[in-house]
Amino acid sequence: MDDTVGKKGTAPPRAGEATEVRSGVEAPGDLQLPPGEMLDLAHKVAELLVERSANLPEENAWEGEFRQVLDDQLLEEPPEEGRPAAEVIDKAAREILPYSSRMDHPRCFGFVPSSPTWPGVLADFMAAGYHVNPCTWLVASGPSHLELVVIDWFRRWLGYPEGAGGLLTSGGSAASVDAFVAAREAAGHPERTTVYMSDQSHSALSRAAMIVGVRRDRIRRVASDEHFRLDMDALARQMAEDRTAGLSPIAVAANAGTTATGAIDPLEALADFCEAEGLWLHVDAAYGGFAILTEEGKRLLRGIERADSIGLDPHKWLFQPYETGCLLAKDRNTLKSAFAVRPDILQDTVWGKDHPNFADYGLQLSRSFRALKVWMSIQTFGMASFRRAIAKGMELAARAEDYVRASPVLEATNMPSLGIVCFRVNPADDDLDEETLEEVNRTVLARMFWDDRAFMSSTMLHGTFTLRMCIVNHTTTWDDVRETLESVERFGRDALTKAGHGRP
Ligand SMILES: Cc1ncc(COP(=O)(O)O)c(C=O)c1O
Repeated sequence: MDDTVGKKGTAPPRAGEATEVRSGVEAPGDLQLPPGEMLDLAHKVAELLVERSANLPEENAWEGEFRQVLDDQLLEEPPEEGRPAAEVIDKAAREILPYSSRMDHPRCFGFVPSSPTWPGVLADFMAAGYHVNPCTWLVASGPSHLELVVIDWFRRWLGYPEGAGGLLTSGGSAASVDAFVAAREAAGHPERTTVYMSDQSHSALSRAAMIVGVRRDRIRRVASDEHFRLDMDALARQMAEDRTAGLSPIAVAANAGTTATGAIDPLEALADFCEAEGLWLHVDAAYGGFAILTEEGKRLLRGIERADSIGLDPHKWLFQPYETGCLLAKDRNTLKSAFAVRPDILQDTVWGKDHPNFADYGLQLSRSFRALKVWMSIQTFGMASFRRAIAKGMELAARAEDYVRASPVLEATNMPSLGIVCFRVNPADDDLDEETLEEVNRTVLARMFWDDRAFMSSTMLHGTFTLRMCIVNHTTTWDDVRETLESVERFGRDALTKAGHGRP
């Protein structure tokens, strides 16, 4: 038997040392690189990213490729032997990463874009490099403490009381699942459950309801009014009907900024309603929550502090890399009683109430260190810069709305709200039917995808096909917005002419 079995491995090779690949248990293993090469590779990646960032405005905001082309490029068996890491990085940078919507492009207006700060990006690198796992206080006390700090910042911004708390999650979807678990437990885990939300709520909320065991046909997507806000009368009617039928409502989910239009549900009225009904109120503020850092946002989101829980997405309007979400609960113990379990294997991690184990507040045990990116970004730039960056999105959206209303070709399909403008090509002096308008606008959107630097997406608003710009990237300028709207007008005129409605 080899007498080195059980002895500690030798130190990894230093920079410049020859790396002799040893096999057997006495060697440290060959999944390591010498320090000099580690540094060279890190420099290479940093250079790639900084160059990408400098060139971004001149590139297209969207690049996509079809499956067959990507199969040809990438489909292969995992290689048995490795090859130089620099080559692998080059391949990723050349053949994989470009085929993606550049969500941080100043002209990316589709879905919900954002632009992570560089300190936030570096924080993700550091968190991965330090291999931190803020699952429990024992395993990561410094990072757990920083998560407390960041959660407390959010708590105060939202006007929540001291007993509130929560955790950082992978995003809004995970925050919604955690919220509905807490709501279901607070309701005593009844049978035949229902949840309520508006027909504008994000699909993540419906999925979260399904995950916690609400039958699909008992997820009530209540009608919204002409401004896409939940209709309180419709909600009351539906809930009365359900109670009469012996169903058990467990939660109402309100929107603080719908993804489609930025609409904000009547938060105060919903809080009154839920109080009277003894029901959990969750506010999905994944999109709009950080608007609370501006004066206008504070006014618009009044009442949010009355919710039992609030979901937020720092990877949207707080300019963080994916995956940075958050769930706050007005009483942090509601999360703990919904999620905490005490397996024997974690018996050493119980350090008492001042030393929270974040794994006890949500669905993940192993977790990435998300607080670091928020903290490093805010430490670097300061809150005043963040406030300005968020306010800028709302100002640009308001200006875009003015442009749309003054345009002879465009029609506003909603008031701008929280940085989102909805509109379509529909010349005021033409009387086009809905079918033609949808065809024209679909054509315009396709031209934007393939022929323009900007990227935008569409949605249906109460059945009407609508173009939509979400303007929340801190690097976007008015020229970016104006030139994108000019492209829409130009493509609109072309499409109208092709459809036989254009004027010379
Ligand atoms: C309002 C709203 N809620 C929830 C989500 C889902 O969040 P995530 O994609 O972070 O899981 C989104 C995503 O765009 C959203 O806009």
